[in-house]
Amino acid sequence: MNNANDADIASKLLSGQDQSPESQTPESKTPQSVPEASGTADTSPVDPAPQAMQDNVHTQRWQSYLKDCREIINLVEPLEVAGRIVKVTGLVMVATGIKLPIGGACFIPLQDGGRVEAEVVGFDGENLLLMPQTAVEGVVPGAKVFSMDVTETLPKPQFGRPPRRRAQDRARHFPVGDGLLGRVVDAAGIPLDGLGPIPNDITAPLSGRVINPLMRAPIEETMDVGVRAINAMLTVGRGQRLGLFAGSGVGKSVLLGMMARYTTADVIVVGLIGERGREVQEFIEQILGPEGLARSVVVAAPADVSALMRLQGASYATTIAERFRQQGKNVLLIMDSLTRYAMAQREIALAIGEPPATKGYPPSVFAKLPALVERTGNGARGEGSITAFYTVLTEGDDQQDPIADSARAILDGHIVLNRTLAESGHYPAIDIEQSISRAMHNITSKEHQQAARLLKQLYSRYLRNQDLIAVGAYQPGSDPMLDIAIKKRDQINQFLQQDIHECADMQFSLENLAQVIGA
Ligand SMILES: Nc1ncnc2c1ncn2[C@@H]1O[C@H](COP(=O)(O)OP(=O)(O)O)[C@@H](O)[C@H]1O
Ligand SMILES: [Mg+2]
Repeated sequence: MNNANDADIASKLLSGQDQSPESQTPESKTPQSVPEASGTADTSPVDPAPQAMQDNVHTQRWQSYLKDCREIINLVEPLEVAGRIVKVTGLVMVATGIKLPIGGACFIPLQDGGRVEAEVVGFDGENLLLMPQTAVEGVVPGAKVFSMDVTETLPKPQFGRPPRRRAQDRARHFPVGDGLLGRVVDAAGIPLDGLGPIPNDITAPLSGRVINPLMRAPIEETMDVGVRAINAMLTVGRGQRLGLFAGSGVGKSVLLGMMARYTTADVIVVGLIGERGREVQEFIEQILGPEGLARSVVVAAPADVSALMRLQGASYATTIAERFRQQGKNVLLIMDSLTRYAMAQREIALAIGEPPATKGYPPSVFAKLPALVERTGNGARGEGSITAFYTVLTEGDDQQDPIADSARAILDGHIVLNRTLAESGHYPAIDIEQSISRAMHNITSKEHQQAARLLKQLYSRYLRNQDLIAVGAYQPGSDPMLDIAIKKRDQINQFLQQDIHECADMQFSLENLAQVIGA
């Protein structure tokens, strides 16, 4: 390392090769001898100079020698503390001999010149439990562990930066800001799109600042997402957080992509967490498309990266969104999926020995979810907003899944996609009966709410009686409401459906709603 140079100078100096006082004396044959020795054991035949003068020269040499020593000491960097890996089992590595805080970052140099980066996820007595960010191939027993925080934690007043006081602020920083627009990065901010390095002049740590709930701006304005069924029936407010509940293959990604392309939000941040790698590419190239990507930032942590990187990907996407919100922008954050985030946390918690509680999920999972979700929403008054959509997998369309349950409790609304609708070709397969936007009544007009309620009633009435109607058991005229529902059925279905390439802004959606109800 850069100590090598200093060590070089030091060893030269100590061996008296060039700077020691002795080396400047041409007669000197023994460079190691100290000045006193040369003074007392001087047996050279040369006529000695007067004693006082010789003393003076000696003092000067000594002083200059000590001055050099002082300079070298100033150059020397503090000792770097290294721990050792004593155990690797499955996902967890155990290190001893080094003290790092929970969440601290460290690395293990490999013999082939590479390194494995890891994070402290717990400790046990004097031992640290480390979770690697990448594969652990190449780590040998007793491998050294170095902290990654040391050099970055030191305040650097000479660069005009304020000292970082919070522990979180001293943690690793990742690029945020406008430089990321149109880019696809991994969970550590490394570009995946091959478009060159990401400018890292603005960086932020991954843990956000908690917003005082009383200081948050309330949800007061609507957010146009460009999807008719949502704009009209489940109006979303700026700063609202919604869940998109569905099994796989029901159209979550397509719906999210449509929102990303057609929304009026200033910036879109997409976190693709734990999805298959192929889906990441598909989402970016086909669903988001070039025009969607231009004002988006995509953070991809697919299923094949470590659990830690999947967690980090979600935090990083949130951090990027937070920075745009600080700049006063209205951000649309899309997180696909929250379930995979919970699964990553489960993987880590179980690996370090946390007991599973609810259906195999350890308690820390249920603490992590609200911590992530609470970071989004509206900022303090005067800041921008983060409107967030989190997808939640309801496998086998099981709405009682513990993650779905927990998500429903912490989100301000949920949009449920229905497999039967999707199978019948009704896209987006939004089940307007089961879905709810909890902010809608605060941000929409009375007429709008009435119209939406009426449409929902007609839709439900038809569904309830569908079988009767199909077998011809319903006698028209016996239920006036059902008569209207039957008459408007096609119109309503057409209203709720929307093609992938069709944009329906807020005004158009409301006009459409009025038409369907009024006609
Ligand atoms: N609005 C839509 N219009 C037409 N087809 C759609 C629409 N939404 C989804 N689909 C179809 O559903 C398939 C699966 O959608 P996808 O979003 O990938 O599901 P998920 O993300 O829930 O697994 C798509 O490949 C597409 O064929
Ligand atoms: Mg998908």
